Amino acid sequence: MNALTRTGLTLAAVGVGGIGYASLVERNAFVVRRRSVPVLPRGRRPLRVLHITDLHLMPGQRRKAAWVSALAGLRPDLVINTGDNLAHPEAVPVALEAFGPLFDVPGVFVLGSNDYLAPTFKNPLFYLMPQLSRRRPTPSAHLPTDDLVKGMLDGGWVDLTNARAHLEVRGEPVELVGVDDPHLDRDRYDLVQGPADPAALLTIGVTHAPYQRVLDGMTADGAGLVVAGHTHGGQLCVPGYGALVTNCDLDPGRVKGVSRWWPGAGGDLSAEPPDDAAWLEVSAGLGTSPYAPLRFSCRPEATLLTLEPVA
Ligand SMILES: [Fe+2]
Repeated sequence: MNALTRTGLTLAAVGVGGIGYASLVERNAFVVRRRSVPVLPRGRRPLRVLHITDLHLMPGQRRKAAWVSALAGLRPDLVINTGDNLAHPEAVPVALEAFGPLFDVPGVFVLGSNDYLAPTFKNPLFYLMPQLSRRRPTPSAHLPTDDLVKGMLDGGWVDLTNARAHLEVRGEPVELVGVDDPHLDRDRYDLVQGPADPAALLTIGVTHAPYQRVLDGMTADGAGLVVAGHTHGGQLCVPGYGALVTNCDLDPGRVKGVSRWWPGAGGDLSAEPPDDAAWLEVSAGLGTSPYAPLRFSCRPEATLLTLEPVA
């Protein structure tokens, strides 16, 4: 065997090993990310917000469902579900089973494209070619959206699909405003826009996909925190570098975790945030499309946000 052949075989083995790790190990290595956000008025008690998103559940994924159910043990004060719950037309029962213990907590939800349309095969090159990844999903079979929504409403959660709501969270008045999925151009923030309620402790914006137009609209109206999913954290990331794509018009530097946002923040990425800039939390989520069952350097996650008073 010559050196060239040996090198080729070695690279092939590394590639197969990497795909095996991304598919079998990291894709199932769920983790709770804990973040603190100083967004409450001075002197107020902290609130614990559990953010779950992008479960992409298949009917047989009981381990993932059980992991989500166990998040109730974190004793959140509020649950926010930013959609993409389903990856199969028969996955509604396992999704509602997963959420069961969390229905004891005040909760809100918005929907993502994978609550409306069944997944389809996508070219893996999408991860390397952002201009392709931003395209809208190709048409596919419809999912039982109404069954999913009814189950979550029956569980006591509030539907924020192009809607505004007020909830009492640990005795405090919290305002929430949400949109339908911007990735499908279903967002109608114009229907629910308006200044943040000054009587509320905090106004939280909720969207599946963190498109700039939605972030700008919510933060211009005074939302102190915006919560989103959709990006999968880039899903296939480069160690030491990070995400290559966000699957929307958000910059890769904000693909997951906590950052600042203010109207126009996407126009100058080097700009310093103003003192009153809102907080943006984007979760890498818990699943993948069944046609791209890989995660690399981007573990599947749920987020426990501790909302704290400003210093
Ligand atoms: Fe997703």
